[in-house]
Amino acid sequence: MSFNLQSSKKLFIFLGKSLFTLLEAMIFALLPKQQKNVAGEIVLITGAGSGLGRLLALQFAGRGSVLVLWDVNKEGNEETYKMAQEAGAARVHAYTCDCSQKEEVYRVADQVKKEVGDVSILINNAGIVTGKNFLDCPDELMEKSFDVNFKAHLWTYKAFLPAMIANDHGHLVCISSSAGLVGVNGLADYCASKFAAFGLAESVFVETFVQNQKGIKTTIVCPFFIKTGMFEGCTTACPSLLPILEPEYAAEKIVEAILQEKMYLYMPKFLYFLMFLKSFLPLKTALLIGDYLDIFHAMDGFLERKKKL
Ligand SMILES: NC(=O)c1ccc[n+]([C@@H]2O[C@H](COP(=O)([O-])OP(=O)(O)OC[C@H]3O[C@@H](n4cnc5c(N)ncnc54)[C@H](O)[C@@H]3O)[C@@H](O)[C@H]2O)c1
Repeated sequence: MSFNLQSSKKLFIFLGKSLFTLLEAMIFALLPKQQKNVAGEIVLITGAGSGLGRLLALQFAGRGSVLVLWDVNKEGNEETYKMAQEAGAARVHAYTCDCSQKEEVYRVADQVKKEVGDVSILINNAGIVTGKNFLDCPDELMEKSFDVNFKAHLWTYKAFLPAMIANDHGHLVCISSSAGLVGVNGLADYCASKFAAFGLAESVFVETFVQNQKGIKTTIVCPFFIKTGMFEGCTTACPSLLPILEPEYAAEKIVEAILQEKMYLYMPKFLYFLMFLKSFLPLKTALLIGDYLDIFHAMDGFLERKKKL
């Protein structure tokens, strides 16, 4: 009897709180969102030497953040360094770091802690793509995809999360991909690494939630193709529903999501609907949708980058 009373009480509390969170989300969906102030925050961006990483750096520079730029490409990173200074960053620090090398990540992270301070916004953005069918992809390229797109997140979290927890203040940003939500032919290693990065970010978020570390925020970003050159030659058959994104638009949306402390950002919005469909449609219907959207041929024109990373 007491068990029934206890479990009914638990059920009512759960239903009441759930209803409250749903109402809260509905109300906040209608109101203009509050944005946090990132002036003076130490923002570390990996892969800052080009593309999205550079644009994110410029967005934070304009908001007065202290920038820590990491890239394996020294030249590109230095260019971003100059651009960020011109864009008004409070301070900019550029470090050449190969994020695929654990020891190098730890070494440069220690240098950052000594020379700059505790990183409060960590944006794991560095990424590579091999773009080969699974059996055609050499083992070392697959390992490299994992090292850059996923394992680097492990080492940077290990390096910077403890101070965030100690200060009860921090934000972990994972640049995953739409390929981190759904498997795509010609992208097996890339998809696997992006799913892994997504899973890590979500799991660490749940850990901080369970441990009541309310000051640690998480944002997981899953964009479709962006015109940065990474997926040069790739196409979309349905530009109205799945457009290839402009890099500036993608960077603005990512910063907006970070400032609003939004957990998930899928771009374009149609991806939310596709994920909803994937969760319940019969496999054959889902494959027909993939075929209609020509997803299975999106990688056909992929042009591999000549530069070796
Ligand atoms: N471009 C797209 O269509 C697209 C779509 C979805 C997700 N993404 C993701 O967005 C992120 C940014 O990609 P982008 O489009 O700007 O590509 P990009 O190639 O312009 O930028 C990637 C950056 O990462 C750096 N990098 C690569 N290996 C590194 C390493 N070992 N250590 C340190 N830095 C390294 C590169 O030098 C480069 O500056 C990536 O994680 C990518 O997977 C891109």
